[in-house]
Amino acid sequence: MNDQAEVLRLKAERTRADELTCNRTHRSRETIIAVGSGKGGVGKSNIALNLALELSWRGRSTCLIDADLGMGNSTILAGVTPRYTLGHLLRDGKRIEEIITQGPLNLGIIAGANGLKELANLSNEDRIRLSRAISGFAGKWDYCVIDSGAGISENVLTFMEKADQCLVVATPEPTSMADAFGLIKVLSERRCRARISVVVNRADSVKEARNVAERLSGLSIQFLNQTVDWAGFLFEDSAVQKSVVKRSPFSAFNRNSRAAQSISRIADCVEKGIEISDIGEDSIGNKFKGWLERLFCDG
Ligand SMILES: Nc1ncnc2c1ncn2[C@@H]1O[C@H](COP(=O)(O)OP(=O)(O)OP(=O)(O)O)[C@@H](O)[C@H]1O
Ligand SMILES: [Mg+2]
Repeated sequence: MNDQAEVLRLKAERTRADELTCNRTHRSRETIIAVGSGKGGVGKSNIALNLALELSWRGRSTCLIDADLGMGNSTILAGVTPRYTLGHLLRDGKRIEEIITQGPLNLGIIAGANGLKELANLSNEDRIRLSRAISGFAGKWDYCVIDSGAGISENVLTFMEKADQCLVVATPEPTSMADAFGLIKVLSERRCRARISVVVNRADSVKEARNVAERLSGLSIQFLNQTVDWAGFLFEDSAVQKSVVKRSPFSAFNRNSRAAQSISRIADCVEKGIEISDIGEDSIGNKFKGWLERLFCDG
């Protein structure tokens, strides 16, 4: 971190604020996790689906909500064919409970609608209706993972603001990092109450992943006074592309893969509310080193 003391101070302040914030008291644990990014195509849908599968595999009742309205593709990645989508909720008045598709490992999936222009540009009224439906529904699950879509449109921000944790996905490309910072900036300006964490995707090395996370975290503290944690990373890995082509998500069907292990670490951070560096070099160095070495040497 650029300014570790400042980060720790802000974290302590945030914990105190969380304890005092009444709108958190209805929920005893963090359940809604929104996955967003500034730039498109950085791996959100794969990370959201596989994180949801990992949580489901751990025995947590989990639902993936594909809120990438207009261009949702989670069910394609999950290898299932939905009977209903969010389009049926918004246009045909179906209840959210009626449109769940059963995914692998008992994962519930609310399928996004693909190619529906009016869903990509929801009216305020529909957006509020959908967001309320999701809030009520989320309380019935241990975790709801929302694939929020890319960018900073009102659709995306509405879902990210509903969340308890926002995972902002960035790759090491400068354009992706700049857009990730743009998303963090808007969330911060809108006083998003969620914990914001970065997930670095497609890294060539741990060092590269850490650099991306530290730069985003440092800039956020320096310019926004916003703490941003590091929830983990995935390597550039052809196994991810293969799982997309096979419609066979790695956290369900290739659990020993390096990508699945990386997702498992992200799930640890999400579940325990800690940063990857908190379970890392400084605290339990050797254990973490062992894990990093395994990631390097494996596959
Ligand atoms: N760690 C990785 N290693 C290699 N390829 C990856 C990795 N992560 C994602 N990809 C590739 O990037 C593609 C896009 O991923 P994904 O659909 O998850 O991105 P997205 O952020 O959801 O995109 P969009 O913004 O269009 O919704 C995948 O189909 C895969 O081919
Ligand atoms: Mg996507």
